[in-house]
Amino acid sequence: MTKAIVLTGITTTGTPHLGNYVGAIRPAIAASKDPGYAPFYFLADYHALIKCHEPEKVRQSSLEIAATWLALGLDTSNAVFYRQSDVPEILELAWMLTCVTSKGLMNRAHAYKAAVSDNEESGENDPDKGIAMGLFSYPILMAADILMFNANKVPVGKDQIQHIEMARDIAGRFNHIYGEHFVLPEAVIDEHGAVLSGLDGRKMSKSYNNTIPLFEPEKKLRKLINKIKTNSLEPGEPKDPNGCTLFSIYQAFATAGEMAHIRQRYAEGIGWGEMKQTLFEHINEQIAPARERYEALMQAPEHIEAELQSGAEKARAISAPFLAELRKAVGIAKIA
Ligand code: TRP
Repeated sequence: MTKAIVLTGITTTGTPHLGNYVGAIRPAIAASKDPGYAPFYFLADYHALIKCHEPEKVRQSSLEIAATWLALGLDTSNAVFYRQSDVPEILELAWMLTCVTSKGLMNRAHAYKAAVSDNEESGENDPDKGIAMGLFSYPILMAADILMFNANKVPVGKDQIQHIEMARDIAGRFNHIYGEHFVLPEAVIDEHGAVLSGLDGRKMSKSYNNTIPLFEPEKKLRKLINKIKTNSLEPGEPKDPNGCTLFSIYQAFATAGEMAHIRQRYAEGIGWGEMKQTLFEHINEQIAPARERYEALMQAPEHIEAELQSGAEKARAISAPFLAELRKAVGIAKIA
């Protein structure tokens, strides 16, 4: 039986935080250990250039993200873990796809539409002001990421569903013109996938500046947890776990039994100071061993690089012959 190819990319801007961990990294690493899947996970560094023009940040983020995934126990004997830019066939494919994608389809992409409506709302008379072609055609690069490996399943956040549908459209168009080369991918949305709350109670997200970095040193982790907003109920007053940020974060790291116990403590009026301490200890206990591995990896980037190189080699063993086939299909070949 051929295994389902599960593929997802991580844009290399920013430092992984607890929300990324719970929502994306933890389930992806669990899947990497499942022999029923053939996972492809990659650092989407060419995607990073769409939003970030600071080379040092892109470089640092690639390092941190790779170290994070390895420290958390990604099984690279099963999963292919690589850097997008180490697989140049992806960009070649992106151009082939660009040539069969209608501009109208890209006009409907929500990232582009949001940028246009920001311009319109600010009274700008050029609706495209400040919008780079990279942002406009980014769903095509994403389609190339996916179609290069004929991925069956693509785990993504809800905001990315439209892009997977576009990848299917583009694949269908290419297949229609040049023959059946691509599998149509499907988005996988983790319905019970936890959306973690951040320091201010809104969804934990870099854009809200309310994140807790995953591998923050212990002291800083404690400090950040102490900053989480609560209401002003005193110790001893019964508290409602629903809608409580501390409780919802705790939930993402706890078993059913632990949850029942904490609910009980809320009913008994646990003080916010004590709950913060409990939450800190609970998260810290689960993160500490991986944090140690992370720190060691950050001190030995050559190990990270070696992993990425061996991932790229496995990826290119697939992408290079497939691209040769695609070049032939579109009429790009040596004359003699
Ligand atoms: N655009 C995705 C995001 O912002 C990241 C990404 C790039 C991706 N290429 C991909 C995800 C291919 C899945 C498949 O989250």
